[in-house]
Amino acid sequence: MTPTPEPARSALVTGASRGIGRGIALGLAKRGWHLTLVARDPARLAAAAAEVRAAGASHVDCVEADLAAPDAPAAAVAAHAARYDSMDALVLAAGVGSAGPLDSFSAARYDKQFALNTRAPFVLVSQALPLLRAAARQRPSRGARVIALASIAGVYAEPSLTVYGATKAALLALCRGLNAEESAAGVTATAIAPGYVDTDMSAWVHDTVPPETMIPVDDLVTAVTALLDMSPRTVINEIVIGRAGTRGQQA
Ligand SMILES: NC(=O)c1ccc[n+]([C@@H]2O[C@H](COP(=O)([O-])OP(=O)(O)OC[C@H]3O[C@@H](n4cnc5c(N)ncnc54)[C@H](OP(=O)(O)O)[C@@H]3O)[C@@H](O)[C@H]2O)c1
Repeated sequence: MTPTPEPARSALVTGASRGIGRGIALGLAKRGWHLTLVARDPARLAAAAAEVRAAGASHVDCVEADLAAPDAPAAAVAAHAARYDSMDALVLAAGVGSAGPLDSFSAARYDKQFALNTRAPFVLVSQALPLLRAAARQRPSRGARVIALASIAGVYAEPSLTVYGATKAALLALCRGLNAEESAAGVTATAIAPGYVDTDMSAWVHDTVPPETMIPVDDLVTAVTALLDMSPRTVINEIVIGRAGTRGQQA
């Protein structure tokens, strides 16, 4: 007898127009997920949505938003809720990296990074929790998962990446806390903390770190799809991913 196909799962993916978020959205599309994609640039977002549809997603919605704006994260969750009564995965990939030593790092730059990298994920998670809990109730064998793109700079110190690292260390804590509060009810979270990944964001270090030595986006997609295949009985607070040729403790 042919097994009954599993009904499509839905995800909200931030930073979905480029880089790691786009890669994850494509990976989920190939598995038939329904997707809400969030980024700022409308043309790039529309291009990513077209690729995601071509890869196999039948339901794709775009939310053009600057997630650093105070009301934008809640509005993005509301857009997903307008279409679905649950959310099986929340992928937090939108982020910004601004390097500089502490003695010349302005509070304005600090606030800007925290707004996107830390405040937006907190609001997205807290607003999405009713939808994530609903998904976990509807599909107890799957549960619902939050995947947050942190960074190895949030685990190990890297000169000039202190503020960026602090924004990402907060994401590690957010995922651990979410697991402590919600995993018994089937909602789990994992922070992925990689070294340099070959995307636009890391292009500024190409002089010293050639792109062919960086972590490929596809390897992160493999990690994310594996997490989303796991039972909610398994809690993985964080995955730290080093680059070959380093001691695994640097970006
Ligand atoms: N690349 C690396 O080496 C690396 C390593 C470790 C961790 N990470 C983390 O992984 C995540 C993804 O990085 P990436 O390399 O894929 O970056 P990327 O190539 O620069 O892509 C960033 C994505 O986020 C969106 N975005 C940026 N600012 C936004 C804002 N204010 N509001 C809404 N969307 C915004 C971008 O689209 P728009 O510009 O159109 O908004 C784009 O879709 C980030 O959180 C980053 O910190 C990256």
